Amino acid sequence: MSSNSYRLLILPGDGIGPEVMAEVRRVAEWFRDRRKLPIELSQRRFGLEAWQADRTLMPEETWSEIQRADAILFGASGLSETRDIPREERRKGSLLRLRKALDVFANLRPIKANPALLDASSLRREIVDGVDMVFVRELTAGVYFGEPRGIETLPDGRRRGVNTHTYTSDQIERVARAAFELARNRRNKVHSVEKSNVMEAGLLWREVVTQVHAADYADVELHHMLADNCAMQLIRAPRQFDVIVTDNLFGDVLSDCGAMITGSLGMLPSASLSARDADGRRRALYEPIHGSAPDIAGKGIANPLASIASFGLCLRETLGEADEAARLERAVDAVLAKGLRTADLAAPGTTSVSTKAMGDAVLTALETA
Ligand code: IPM
Ligand code: MG
Repeated sequence: MSSNSYRLLILPGDGIGPEVMAEVRRVAEWFRDRRKLPIELSQRRFGLEAWQADRTLMPEETWSEIQRADAILFGASGLSETRDIPREERRKGSLLRLRKALDVFANLRPIKANPALLDASSLRREIVDGVDMVFVRELTAGVYFGEPRGIETLPDGRRRGVNTHTYTSDQIERVARAAFELARNRRNKVHSVEKSNVMEAGLLWREVVTQVHAADYADVELHHMLADNCAMQLIRAPRQFDVIVTDNLFGDVLSDCGAMITGSLGMLPSASLSARDADGRRRALYEPIHGSAPDIAGKGIANPLASIASFGLCLRETLGEADEAARLERAVDAVLAKGLRTADLAAPGTTSVSTKAMGDAVLTALETA
């Protein structure tokens, strides 16, 4: 294949990862074959599957493919079976290491209420109707990576767990810029979320966001909001939000909260992006936010739509194919409008379709989308 194609690396990973990524693969092949998009697909072992085959969670070969790829299409990571694997090895194969190594600091998590799923939400239809927002979660710093960290035993025998929440001004600045840029292409509104009332790192966050805004983005409407209030507002009046920029941990928690607006964690895609290098190249990691879901793994009932929608973000962000991304969104909407539901979305007492049947339906809908 020509060197002008985009190298997309599929890492199915653990739990339901392989099942949902099999459907993503078929969708990606469809765009390659039917829409002639310059996509080169490869797939490598990662996680428990790699441990069983190669005695490592992250084979060297997989790691070098990761370095070469234009984008990684990631399934899921993390299972209780990996708990007995040596700590060093687990660290090598961790999703956090991957995020850090790729420096994908801007994690975009779009949350959009689908008209066909308004009744699947745990919130009332009139609250969720019309919600359309994006979390920009800082992904490579904060308490997830701060040092010192660990569990130590004190002289008196008590044990102490330590994590460090830390942000430098440049780390805050670059994610704030990503949020303002994104807002300009949307409804031009940013909520910056922290706990500046109790945390110094939150105070710095607010200061830096304020400075960046005044210097370069004064045209964007900016609100500062405390994280606990944000949790409340997401449930109370989620339509007020356009872009929410926040740190790694608050972003993790609040985006799960926001996910419930869509009816299921099984619907939520994400894109994690680095800065552009001198050649304009941007590393990218696309993953559903649902995780490995061991309770339903291997049953063929997982919802592949979050992974498929993550591929849609790849079409938009890595390939720059906004029209093709919109085509995929239309196909997914059509499938949902027809009433197809995987178990996570199905109303009690109704029948649900399998992972593969959902993939089939998306492929069929693509023909006319
Ligand atoms: C997420 C997940 C991850 C996180 C886990 C799997 C480490 O919850 O992407 O939201 O906490 O970042
Ligand atoms: Mg999470």
